Amino acid sequence: MTTATSTTSPLVLGAMMFGTTVDETTSFAILDRFVERGGVWIDTADCYSFWASETGQGGDSERLLGRWFAARPGVRDRVKIATKVGAEPLWAGSFPDRRAGLSRRAVDAAFAGSLERLGLESVDLLWLHMEDRATPIEETVEALAELTSAGTVRRVGASNHPAWRVERARSHARRLGATPIDVLQHNSTYLRPRPGTNPTNHPFGVLSDEQRDYAQAHGIEVWAYTPLLSGAYDNPAKPIPAIYDHPGTTARLRALDEIAAELGATRGQTVLAWHVARGVRPMLGGSKLDQLEAAMDAVRLPLSAEQLARLDAPM
Ligand SMILES: NC(=O)c1ccc[n+]([C@@H]2O[C@H](COP(=O)([O-])OP(=O)(O)OC[C@H]3O[C@@H](n4cnc5c(N)ncnc54)[C@H](OP(=O)(O)O)[C@@H]3O)[C@@H](O)[C@H]2O)c1
Repeated sequence: MTTATSTTSPLVLGAMMFGTTVDETTSFAILDRFVERGGVWIDTADCYSFWASETGQGGDSERLLGRWFAARPGVRDRVKIATKVGAEPLWAGSFPDRRAGLSRRAVDAAFAGSLERLGLESVDLLWLHMEDRATPIEETVEALAELTSAGTVRRVGASNHPAWRVERARSHARRLGATPIDVLQHNSTYLRPRPGTNPTNHPFGVLSDEQRDYAQAHGIEVWAYTPLLSGAYDNPAKPIPAIYDHPGTTARLRALDEIAAELGATRGQTVLAWHVARGVRPMLGGSKLDQLEAAMDAVRLPLSAEQLARLDAPM
């Protein structure tokens, strides 16, 4: 992962709500400022954001990014774009039961749609958005192998997949001599959900110790989504969700407040810095320019090994 001392930022800009709840002017301003401050990775998906769109289908985020690329000649060379396939509802209201999935046909069709909406000839990273147990993972890997060998996809990643499925996909890619998955995307934040609960739509959505260990052992990058709990660390109007309500949270919030005060940072900024210090790339879904500025500052906060140990101490 890019380190906090380099000139590029390790922060990923999540474009999930761009073009739906975040209007075009604000989205463009956030994108422009992100690039200006050394941001590189922009994350979207073919299905963003079907739940907030007028049609009940995705595409608004990629279309907005396509308009931004068209309006900013040269910017494509300064950023890397990641999109996802597999989670688009087959029709409005059909998610999660009927979604595009990861068959060869579905991957090809979804990716062609993404390129068209983005107005690009290739992307830097293509994610498998969520599992499709109805399709053998080998079939999905073969579809991805065709895209990487054609040069329309540079890297492939898995989001919300258990480690054993990723390992199976990587060994099949190795057998084919294809580009293997080398990056995972999961829900991760400083607070831990109560055992047995799940803040995501995916059985393996929350970054587990096993997934992290697997990634570390194989030099696989990890990206963290919803690290700021949608703003709940700092926005009094957004209470911390009930599934984080347990005694461990009290101790963790105490440590977080202590380190945040030492850094002169907010809780959310400290959470982003904690991810970077652990080698995880945090993703920001900000809806306002000042949120972007705060996050870009946060990933450069000098969190010492001793402070990191104090943050990690409360179980
Ligand atoms: N792979 C997956 O399944 C998956 C799932 C979810 C997300 N993602 C990706 O991850 C990205 C980030 O996810 P997310 O939007 O859920 O995460 P997030 O960054 O935890 O939440 C974004 C929200 O946090 C609030 N916020 C940001 N900075 C703030 C600050 N300084 N103070 C107070 N509130 C602040 C804003 O809320 P307000 O708008 O209310 O101000 C913003 O809309 C997405 O854009 C998407 O690319 C992937």
